[in-house]
Amino acid sequence: MSYSCWWKSAVIYQIYLRSFQDTNGDGIGDIPGIIQRLDYLEWLGIDVVWITPFYPSPMADFGYDISDYQGVDPTFGKLADLDYLIQLLHDRNIKVIVDFVAAHTSDQHSWFIESRSSRSHPKRDWYIWKDPTPEGNPPNNWIGRFDGLSAWEWDAKTEQYYLHSFLKEQPDINWRNPGAKQAMLDVLDFWLQRGVDGFRVDAAYRAYKDPQFRDNPVNPNWHPGMEPSDLLFEVFSKNVPDIHDFNSMLRKFVDQQGDYLLIAELYKSLEEIVKHYGANDEFHLPLNSELMSSDLTWSAETIREIVERYEHLLPEDAWPNWSLGNHDKHRVASRIGGEQAKVGMMLLLTLRGTPTIYYGDELGMEDAWVPSEHIQDPWEKKAPGIGVGRDPERTPMLWDSSANAGFCASSVHPWLPITYDYDGINVEVQKKKSRSFLWLTQSLLTLRKQYPVLQLGQYVSLYAPSQLFCYRRFNEDSDLVIALNFSSEYQEWILPEEFRNQSTILISTFMDRQGGQLGNILQLRGNEGIVLGSVSRSSPSQ
Ligand code: GLC
Ligand code: CA
Repeated sequence: MSYSCWWKSAVIYQIYLRSFQDTNGDGIGDIPGIIQRLDYLEWLGIDVVWITPFYPSPMADFGYDISDYQGVDPTFGKLADLDYLIQLLHDRNIKVIVDFVAAHTSDQHSWFIESRSSRSHPKRDWYIWKDPTPEGNPPNNWIGRFDGLSAWEWDAKTEQYYLHSFLKEQPDINWRNPGAKQAMLDVLDFWLQRGVDGFRVDAAYRAYKDPQFRDNPVNPNWHPGMEPSDLLFEVFSKNVPDIHDFNSMLRKFVDQQGDYLLIAELYKSLEEIVKHYGANDEFHLPLNSELMSSDLTWSAETIREIVERYEHLLPEDAWPNWSLGNHDKHRVASRIGGEQAKVGMMLLLTLRGTPTIYYGDELGMEDAWVPSEHIQDPWEKKAPGIGVGRDPERTPMLWDSSANAGFCASSVHPWLPITYDYDGINVEVQKKKSRSFLWLTQSLLTLRKQYPVLQLGQYVSLYAPSQLFCYRRFNEDSDLVIALNFSSEYQEWILPEEFRNQSTILISTFMDRQGGQLGNILQLRGNEGIVLGSVSRSSPSQ
């Protein structure tokens, strides 16, 4: 089997299915909705779509609680719709990755229903069942990610506890059981046979737990206002030492089937995530969540430090990846402001590594305000008022200026409210404005194709004033410079010697200047990012 590493040069676009496009008037996005918007995806110029869960689900966690891994929930369409979508995407040279919710099922999955039916059922051990302590307490101190309460749920009928790292409706699978493991591998096989190009392994580092189920250490610095689950350090309930065996087992399985991509959701420090590449025998892309964090200071210095540290830590042959947002994190435009979000987009699409764009971020879409009576996210319901709710970043895609922004018919109530200021932030309006955020994103995606150096070239940072982050992307054919102004003030940058008198502007985040020949100095307006090509040395590929 030969592996092309097609995903290295690709840009991934994450579609939060419930919010992309509704076609049947229930106010919830569906698979025919994606089909309806294929021209847009192709025009935008992304290479891969990652579609969030469409499987049958009671929707306790909006599809991350799966009751059947081999189907499509009627809310989203039929299996035939999905097959058709995969085919249509492939016809347009767009690949498809899907979520593999590995760590837990729904409590309505037939496996769990059987497992909880009796202690002697052959599937009992497919989940994690334990006796109470002699004092009658839960087996250990582990707590749920959403509410910070015991992660163990008592089953009165069979008089044991089962483990759920998230909601009690999401029992954890016991991957150490051969039967459960085989059933889950069959799921991967099922979707590979249907034509998907890879998986985003949800909560990958929770697949194995400490074999002794030891208590997690208490966080002495926890105080009210912090996330309830931060009460403990999750030392024994996730990312345990032999998780790497799990990773390599998955990788081996997928590699045997073909040339596919495995991404892992991890949420760990850079120092930790780089270990999940293994010796190029674990995940192709352990997700780097550094730029999505709400406590990130958005400054040239911090971003430079992160990029440099990551580049330094990456094992040989490991390929980087970057994201600015997803369905679990507040929108980047709301975190750093609309002007800097453009700088962010230029950063995302010019750093070395596979980028993921969260739907709507190509427009500079912001978090919506969700009134309390419309709250959907179980996390917000369990831990209200501390900002953990994920509804704001999951609101409907903004297509046009009509009543529901073109997401659903105007007579329909969308499942989450539409962002209020969508008049200027929608696809139709921005397509008409050549300097819009959307055209910036589209042009950067085009530039990546014109200059493959942006996809696969080397990276090195350049000396620059503290408000700027400047770097080079280079290979044998081209040499580009990216200069990003993280401040709202005008800045000047004295170009490195080899770029003086021979650089030209390929694109500005303002979308209002291009070409010319620079002398010694690059002038940057506040919040401006620039990609420079060398007049003589950077030729676009044909
Ligand atoms: C992952 C998903 C998140 C979900 C959680 C539990 O973190 O990204 O949306 O709530 O898993 O399934
Ligand atoms: Ca629908």
